[in-house]
Amino acid sequence: MSAAEMRRLFLLDPEVVFLNHGSFGACPAAVFETYQTWQLRLERQPVAFLDPDRGYAAWMADTRQALAADIGAAPDDVVGAVNATHALNLVARSLPLAEGDEILTTDHEYAALDKTWRFVAARSGARIVTCEVPLPLHDPAAFTDTLIGAMTDRTRVLFVSHITSPTALCFPIEAAVAEARRRGIWTVIDGAHTPGHIDLDVTAVGADFYAGNCHKWMMAPKGAAFLHARQAHQPMLQPLVISHGWDPDRAAPGPFGGTAFVDAMEMQGTRDPSAWLSVPAALEFRRAHDWPALSATCAAQARAASERVARMTGLPPLAAPALTAPQMVALPVPRCDPHWLKRALLERYRIEVPVFDWKENTIVRLSVQCYNSDEDIDLLCGALSDLLSLPAAA
Ligand SMILES: Cc1ncc(COP(=O)(O)O)c(C=O)c1O
Repeated sequence: MSAAEMRRLFLLDPEVVFLNHGSFGACPAAVFETYQTWQLRLERQPVAFLDPDRGYAAWMADTRQALAADIGAAPDDVVGAVNATHALNLVARSLPLAEGDEILTTDHEYAALDKTWRFVAARSGARIVTCEVPLPLHDPAAFTDTLIGAMTDRTRVLFVSHITSPTALCFPIEAAVAEARRRGIWTVIDGAHTPGHIDLDVTAVGADFYAGNCHKWMMAPKGAAFLHARQAHQPMLQPLVISHGWDPDRAAPGPFGGTAFVDAMEMQGTRDPSAWLSVPAALEFRRAHDWPALSATCAAQARAASERVARMTGLPPLAAPALTAPQMVALPVPRCDPHWLKRALLERYRIEVPVFDWKENTIVRLSVQCYNSDEDIDLLCGALSDLLSLPAAA
């Protein structure tokens, strides 16, 4: 299917050239219909819907199973969450940190999660150690060595993104995670951008805790995410909300149909689980549209755009292609006011794309999804050339 045909399967505003799938995803109309069907069903008979014995527990488990199969997990080690921020807060606020402990992280993390760890550090007396990942990143060993070199006897937590938000890098986290675990350091991975974007196998990653969003690249409706936790660590996790499902002493499945971990995390008072229940439909949409082929095309477009903008600006890409997120790429552009550039792209060219300063760089973060055509990318390159007085590059 062409990009134009794919575009018609989404609800996106046809007036906008949407090059920002990375921020909040975009949901296909068919998946959104499934979501609304769940919502209507809930409102039609709320008591029946939310009664674990009348289907609800089984539907929740169906999503867990479908998602677990997709991300290489055991179903009982995965729980639904409204978003990655929520899931990672839950982990950060559960870890028993104390004065002098160190939380090791990188300078590429998502701002809201930086704040989460600052909050936790301030309360516990732990110290945040932010190590600088060298750029441009060409060698996975440079990443691994930097992180391992920053581990000390006081390091209790390693927190790192699998795909980074400001720089769109795909960090090769496995070796650092393995070394941290060998040293008894808790490994917490922010996988907000990975489900549906790369071939994710959380078991192979091997982290203690891994959170991911289904509402970004997996294209589920907003409010669908997960937390994966190793079985041995599940009892230490304290839900941010204590509700009927909480019963840490229980071994067997309880009244909500799941393990103690699943029920404590997923039973959070009255709420609408429709986004979570629509995850299987999002997975089905991908299966029905030959996703490996579509995402390979998008990855090739993203890489070509990165090389093209680098030729225009003379500024090299931030990392080798193998260490860059396949469908999302940070394009360094000459220093300018990022708010002006973002507004000009939207107002003059109808292009929705994030532009921001990160360290010494002004970055345009391009996302390429199945509904983006070569013409969308041509338009962005032409607009950057005009607005920043750059040579046009073919
Ligand atoms: C790396 C990273 N972590 C976490 C998040 C937060 O995701 P959410 O708002 O769905 O919790 C984002 C959002 O873009 C992100 O890029």
